[in-house]
Parts: sequence; structure tokens; C-alpha cells
Amino acid sequence: MAADVYRGEHNLTVSRVTQPPFRPRSAGTTTRIGEMPLSLPGRRQLRVVMTYQHVIMTHHGDASVLEIAAAELPAPMPHEVRVRVLAAGVAYTDILIREGLYPGMPKPPFTLGYDVVGIVDAVGAQVSTVPVGQLVAALTVTGGYSEYLCLSASDVVPVPDTVEAAAAVALVLHYVTAYQMLHRVAQVKPGQSILIHGAAGGVGTALLQLARLTELEVYGTAAAAKHDHIRQWGAIPIDYRHEDFVQRIADLTAAGVDAVFDLVGGPHLFRSYRVLKPHGTLINFGFMAAAQANRGRQLRLLQNFLCLGLLQLRWLQSKRVAFYSITAMKQRHPDWFRQDLTTLLELLAKGQIHPVIAQRLSLAEAAQAQTLLERSAVSGALVLLCN
Ligand SMILES: NC(=O)c1ccc[n+]([C@@H]2O[C@H](COP(=O)([O-])OP(=O)(O)OC[C@H]3O[C@@H](n4cnc5c(N)ncnc54)[C@H](OP(=O)(O)O)[C@@H]3O)[C@@H](O)[C@H]2O)c1
Repeated sequence: MAADVYRGEHNLTVSRVTQPPFRPRSAGTTTRIGEMPLSLPGRRQLRVVMTYQHVIMTHHGDASVLEIAAAELPAPMPHEVRVRVLAAGVAYTDILIREGLYPGMPKPPFTLGYDVVGIVDAVGAQVSTVPVGQLVAALTVTGGYSEYLCLSASDVVPVPDTVEAAAAVALVLHYVTAYQMLHRVAQVKPGQSILIHGAAGGVGTALLQLARLTELEVYGTAAAAKHDHIRQWGAIPIDYRHEDFVQRIADLTAAGVDAVFDLVGGPHLFRSYRVLKPHGTLINFGFMAAAQANRGRQLRLLQNFLCLGLLQLRWLQSKRVAFYSITAMKQRHPDWFRQDLTTLLELLAKGQIHPVIAQRLSLAEAAQAQTLLERSAVSGALVLLCN
């Protein structure tokens, strides 16, 4: 990794030059543009280097570990497409990865970014299914905060040209998570009731909108300042900071709710379980309690899965308890992921869902975007506009 300041092909002023985020695929002699002429009489020819910008996470820590950097633009491998990223989502999950609380991640430095929408600008020799110029979406898990990235052709999903990239990217992580939890796991039916924790966040807002489409009766916990956002989607807000949600659900419903979506985790799961109807479903999909703790976060993470396991052992009570992970679900059912994202993109194109983009920021503002999420300062989704 060189630490020089230079100006690249895309007129980018950058602070460092790094290796490409996934694998180095440069070949032959390269040189930094601006340092040397492109050809020198009587000497060997020098190759022009195309560079692109991405945000690297130098090591685990707070938002200050994010740095804008440049790398040599890779060519796609035979089975890959290269995507010019238009919009990249910023999600709370990126913060968990940044802080080293998310299992199975590579060792830093690498690029964060769970989902992208962009235009295919080059394809590998074996790719016949995705044309150059196609607008696509992908769940990248890492690598999204970037102007370009190479992905397996089987991992990209076509996006209708009529939809805005920032709106489409909000669907990939947040709405697929919400859709699969509602319809693949809880299998909700019109007229049923649900409780959404963190209802004003990215996944929460997606759950609110999709629940409304299915004609569910919805309760959502959030800070009081975000209650209008929740009412806007026909749901009843609960101020979890000043009210006991178990008591409020008991007051508002006769027998409890059919499903609870819990992103807090840990002992909070026991309270969510209490508001379920006898045949209801509790889905844990996050561990904010561990992530927000000042100390002992790894232990709290373990505690989350211990609480989950204890609840799952109560099989005699006929209530269902599940942990949802979008990556595990995609691995088990890649066809469901493609099908569900396509369904959501169609709903977006028809104007039946309306992703709430709290803020659009530039790639260079990735750290600022994550800080906004950490302060719970947004209702809806944050998107980086990359090109
Ligand atoms: N398992 C999966 O596949 C999957 C997929 C996507 C996301 N996730 C997880 O889902 C969680 C949410 O992600 P996101 O991107 O939607 O985050 P987000 O936009 O930051 O929203 C999180 C929301 O939770 C609220 N909150 C925090 N503590 C709470 C508590 N104790 N009770 C109720 N609400 C609380 C916050 O707002 P207020 O406190 O101000 O109301 C905030 O609106 C994260 O933990 C993320 O890792 C998991």
C-alpha cells in the first residue's frame, strides 16, 4: 500500500493508493498517473492505470477508521460483471462489522457496504446472461462503498430502468429482510397483528410499509420524536423509552400479537415473547443491546444467543422463536432472494412501496453517515451516491 497523494483517471484527488478491495488483479507494469509520462522514447511502454475511489476500513473501531482511497480498476473475471456503483446503502450492520461484532468477516483493511445498485460496465468472457448497460442490484455484504466493484454474474438482480437507484438500493437489505421475515418466516395473513421494535429505522420502515400492504394491524416502538413517521404508515407508536411495551400491548390488544420483530435481542427477547398470542412467532434479527453496550459486547452477543436458545427450548408453549439472517437465508435459498427482491422492485416500479431516504450523501461522507445511524438520528435509510 503506497501512501502518496495523486490525481487519477477520474480526476480524483485521493490520500492513499490501496490494493483492490477483494483481490489484486493488476497485471504488467503499472505506474501512478502524474508521476511519469505515458511513454518514454527509447524505453519500455508504460501502461495507463485507471483508478477508482472506495472507502476502506483501516481497522476495527469508531467511524474515524473509514478512509477514502483509490485502487486500480479491476477487470472482471470470466464469470463476473463489473458494476459502476450509483448508490450504496449505509446500514447499522455495517457498524457491527466495523466494530468487529459481526462473525465471518475478513481481516481489515477492506471496504464496507452491504448493498449496491449500479450499471454493468464490463462483463467477463463467460457471462452471457447480463448485458453491459444493465441496471442491477446486489447484496454485497462488504465492498459497496465504492465507485466500482466486480461481482459474480449470478449475484446481480436486474432493476427496472424506471426506478431511482437510491430508492432501489434501499430495498436490497432493508426490504428483503422485512419481506422475508413477514412472508417467509412469520407467514402473516391479512388482519393479523404485529409488533415492530425499532419501527422508524431502515428495516423498521420497510416492515411498516410491507405490513400496510398486507393489511396488518401494526404496533411499533420508537423514540417519541419519530412517532409521526410511524403513524404515517398507519401504525400505532409506542415510546419504549418511557412506556413499558408489554403493558401497552396488553392494554391495546385483547390477546397479544401474532408476530414480534425484535432487533434489540438479549433479555429483551423474553419481554417480546410475553406479548405473543399462543401460536405467535418471535423473530430476532438484530442485537442492538449488545452493540450499544459500553463494555462486554462480545459477552452480550453470546447472551443474545443464549436467551434465544432458552426461548426455543420452550417448545411446549407452541409459540415459535426464530433468528433471521439475510445472508444465511440467501445461502439456503438463493432463488428466494432473487424472487423476493424482484417482487419488491416491481412494487417500487408500480409506486406501491416508497422507501424513505433520510439522507443522500457522497462516498466521502461515509463516516458521517455511520455516525448519524449510531446516534439514532435518522428515520428511514441512508444512501451514498457514488458516481
Ligand atoms: N439479521 C439480518 O439479516 C439483518 C438484516 C438487516 C438489518 N439487521 C439488523 O437490524 C438492526 C436494524 O438495522 P437498521 O439498518 O434498520 O438500523 P437503523 O436504521 O439504525 O434502525 C435501528 C432503529 O432501532 C431503534 N432502537 C434502538 N434501540 C432500540 C430499542 N432498545 N428499542 C426499540 N428501538 C430501538 C433506533 O431508533 P430510536 O431508538 O430512536 O427509536 C433506530 O431507529 C441492526 O441491528 C441490524 O444489524 C439484521
